[in-house]
Amino acid sequence: MAAVVHVNGKILTEEHATVSVFDHGFLFGEGIYETLRTYQRRPFLLDRHLARLRHSASLMALDVPFTDEELGRRVGETMAAHSALDEAYIRILLTRGVGDLSYSLSATPTPSLVIIVKPFVPHPERAFTHGIPVVVVGIRRNHPDALNPMIKSNNLLNNALAMQEALRRGGQEALMLNQAGQIAECSQSNVFLVRRGEVVTPPLSAGLLPGITREYVLELAADLKIPAREAQLGLDDLEAADEAFLTGTTREVTPVVTVDGRAVGDGKPGTITRRLLEAFRGKWM
Ligand code: PDD
Repeated sequence: MAAVVHVNGKILTEEHATVSVFDHGFLFGEGIYETLRTYQRRPFLLDRHLARLRHSASLMALDVPFTDEELGRRVGETMAAHSALDEAYIRILLTRGVGDLSYSLSATPTPSLVIIVKPFVPHPERAFTHGIPVVVVGIRRNHPDALNPMIKSNNLLNNALAMQEALRRGGQEALMLNQAGQIAECSQSNVFLVRRGEVVTPPLSAGLLPGITREYVLELAADLKIPAREAQLGLDDLEAADEAFLTGTTREVTPVVTVDGRAVGDGKPGTITRRLLEAFRGKWM
């Protein structure tokens, strides 16, 4: 893996990068994170990721005792300490910090900050050229009134169980429905459908993470004059779709060619999906 890790102000090699077992991130899963990647060694949309980190923090009354400049500088220093880095995978984690085994906020006065930097390993190019199989999993996305998917939480049990079910069933991503049976999102990406030339993605009210790539792709669609909107979607919409694709930091725009073994559209990456991927890469690669 060859990671370099910033842990509360110290830059360490991966074997020395540790946090206390009394960190509430470990004890209770109380923490948040952002996953970024670089293009030309510059973190992709760092400002938007830091804004989302702050929003996640605000939803769990967690202080972010750093400015964006400070966080950006620490990311830069961690990258610079890596001796073998071309493009980077960057994971920024902020937890409640170390404290007694109590849910009281007073137990954890100082948040822990961890920044993991390792070489970015892209998904195989075939995923982009040929698309991937996706599985609709039985596990529902967390209900926003229980654990809001808007919080990009380190507590990823919902996502991990969903992905593990998908992998067992031969999928490369797990598509999750919300409690009402509407399409929410995937375990690590957002989902889009295309029907009769129009791009549609579930609204945030369906209970999903506001993906940075999702937002960016909606902007790209507007630039390209491809009609795009948010709408509640069900499995019937998926069955009727001409195309489907996923968006995410590591997925960029990834075509979905089958769902539960059934072809989406003609079972090949669709024209609009390919246009959006091409436009995305044209700007960043
Ligand atoms: N996952 N939905 C979920 C549940 C996610 O975990 C992610 C990102 C996304 C896409 O968001 P973005 O476009 O901002 O990457 C949607 C990251 C990559 C992760 O878990 O590491």
